[in-house]
Amino acid sequence: MKKIIIAIDGNSGCGKSTTAKALAKKLHYIYIDTGAMYRAVTLFFIEHDIDLNNEEDVKNALAQIDISFKYNEETGHNDTYLNGKNVEREIRQMEVSNLVSPVSEIPAVRRKLQEQQRRLGEDKGVVMDGRDIGTVVFPDADLKIFMTADLEVRAERRRKEMHEKGMNVELNEVIANLKERDRIDSSRADSPLKKADDAIVVDTSHLTFDEQVNKILELAEEKMKA
Ligand code: DC
Repeated sequence: MKKIIIAIDGNSGCGKSTTAKALAKKLHYIYIDTGAMYRAVTLFFIEHDIDLNNEEDVKNALAQIDISFKYNEETGHNDTYLNGKNVEREIRQMEVSNLVSPVSEIPAVRRKLQEQQRRLGEDKGVVMDGRDIGTVVFPDADLKIFMTADLEVRAERRRKEMHEKGMNVELNEVIANLKERDRIDSSRADSPLKKADDAIVVDTSHLTFDEQVNKILELAEEKMKA
């Protein structure tokens, strides 16, 4: 079977990452969480007090950022590393979630990460999830999925996920964050979140996790045979 590129885009918190991860595991593909890359840049900007409106500061900061992924034997997932340090936990915190969309609007940030994403996927056999993968990063991806789910469902799933990791947040806070990120991500000038014309919509509001993974797996297997 031929190796393909699978692009999964969609709103914040609709289960893209967990689905993409499970799919990659079943196919023995590489999984790239591009949201984690934007989160890592955001963490660096917070830690170094970078003024998002100062182009020179942003440019200098970007030159000092190296993002990589390393497999974690214990969890079975790829952890995100910022300049050699494991930041997997820190990048999921609300402080980062609240600033990541404004950071992702900056064209210089997007250019740097999009270039790295293209390099990571050039050998195919990859599942990449984000907001602009099927539209900008890999417009020729073999399979494009646009995932969505009702806001309340997404917020409850996200709250539960954070709770399981020991991060307790109020449902209202999660709802406000998801809503605001959707608004900024969809309306920004540079590579906004939008469905690619040839993407297949998967609404996960009423699907179990296994159902959503199997649905995309079937679509992927069809493309791999073609
Ligand atoms: O997938 P996530 O929720 O962890 O992504 C965090 C933010 O990163 C998201 O709100 C917008 C930004 N992002 C982006 O602009 N483009 C991508 N390809 C992936 C994420």
